[in-house]
Amino acid sequence: MDPSTASDVLTVHGGTALSGEVRVRGAKNLVPKAMVAALLGHGTSVLHNVPEISDVRIVTGLLEAHGVTVTRGAGPDTLILDPASVEAASDAAVEAHAGTSRIPVLLCGPLLHRLGRAFIPDLGGCKIGDRPIDFHLDALRAFGAVVEKRPEGLLILAPERLRGTHIRLPYPSVGATEQVLLTAVLAEGVTELSNAATEPEIVDLIAVLQKMGAIISVHNDRVVRIIGVDRLDGFTHRALPDRLETASWACAALATGGDIRVVGAQQGEMMTFLNVFRRIGGDFEVDDTPGSESIRFWHSGGQMRALALETDVHPGLSTDWQQPLVVALTQAHGLSIVHETVYEQRLGFTQALNRMGAQIQLYRECLGGSACRFGQRNFQHSAVISGPTKLHGAELTIPDLRAGFSYLIAALAAQGTSMVHGISLIHRGYEDFEAKLSGLGAVVELGVAA
Ligand code: EPU
Repeated sequence: MDPSTASDVLTVHGGTALSGEVRVRGAKNLVPKAMVAALLGHGTSVLHNVPEISDVRIVTGLLEAHGVTVTRGAGPDTLILDPASVEAASDAAVEAHAGTSRIPVLLCGPLLHRLGRAFIPDLGGCKIGDRPIDFHLDALRAFGAVVEKRPEGLLILAPERLRGTHIRLPYPSVGATEQVLLTAVLAEGVTELSNAATEPEIVDLIAVLQKMGAIISVHNDRVVRIIGVDRLDGFTHRALPDRLETASWACAALATGGDIRVVGAQQGEMMTFLNVFRRIGGDFEVDDTPGSESIRFWHSGGQMRALALETDVHPGLSTDWQQPLVVALTQAHGLSIVHETVYEQRLGFTQALNRMGAQIQLYRECLGGSACRFGQRNFQHSAVISGPTKLHGAELTIPDLRAGFSYLIAALAAQGTSMVHGISLIHRGYEDFEAKLSGLGAVVELGVAA
């Protein structure tokens, strides 16, 4: 077990059905990228619906290290970003602010345009597979950038203005698609990106860039075409709601037999999840009154049903929905199959669920769906979940963000007390979650219970 400080442990007394209301703000997987986009503009940008999460603090630190002024607006969830005095940051400052985050890689395009130079320290992020950045580097090279390996990280240089190019991604990577967008908008000429990711957060980033003056069209078959422009201005934008956090609360309602209204959630980005939620035995009600949108999730009362599901790029079932759904499926009757096709090692968290009483068996084969690129590569990326199983409290150490919140759901659904170590990781993507949990009736305390 990792040594963790008392303040990094949450003691969870399980067995309470969560009930009440929580608010979700802007998507963790859009907000940092929109903040990076502000670097491309000549004017000030205003971003609304920004959550208080550590990923936002990391990008704020990185942008400030590069001379961007970042201030809070009149509302507490508004950020004002002024890139008038962009300057090179020291490599040490980039490393210090980035910590274990993968955000620095997305600063490359804007920094190459503004300064001709970008530095990427050794990258972290959640430990859910190899998480290489080869697609990013190949794309930057295609635009004309030069990548130099240094002992402390990668130095990327643009000897002249970057040029539009044709790029085909080997896989529709979210980050690499964003990399191409953030670079192509100011490159000279046209860029055509094939096999692009089209997640809702990417579409929202395209909306941000279009507001700044970019010309981007999304075509059928995952093709995105960008006509480079000479200058971009600032933007004013309201970030789309976090569909991944919303699904986590939905699964918490289902697994604990509770009833949670998620204020701020919208149906459009959630459709694939909502279908699965209903098929398992969850119920929901959408309120789409402008200004007070919400989705209420609850357990419909009958037996929960097992099913086979497969994660995929959008519009498939998001890999970030997989972990909370797995916890819910431990309470479904029968055998469920989960095939993880986006990350090769995103099922390791199930070992801890087994220690809590779940019955989950992992397989190297592609089970229950189509063959994926991990099938022949010795990764345990399919799970068979046998349910329902009674869960009991345990001592748990969080391996990554989504697994972390899923451990909390499991601990809340379990009988007895759990100690969940490493909860600071959850602050990367879930705003104020301890207070939200308490507000829903969960019995949790920071630190080890006396
Ligand atoms: N990949 C490569 N080479 C690359 C880039 C990606 O092989 O250069 C592979 C990855 O190893 C992975 C697959 O492509 O197997 C997809 O990775 P992708 O690039 O799409 O992921 P990402 O951009 O690093 C974002 C989200 C993740 C989310 C994935 C997939 C952010 C900050 N992160 O990661 O979110 O799971 O897209 O939708 O936007 C989370 O929120 O907890 C989280 C991990």
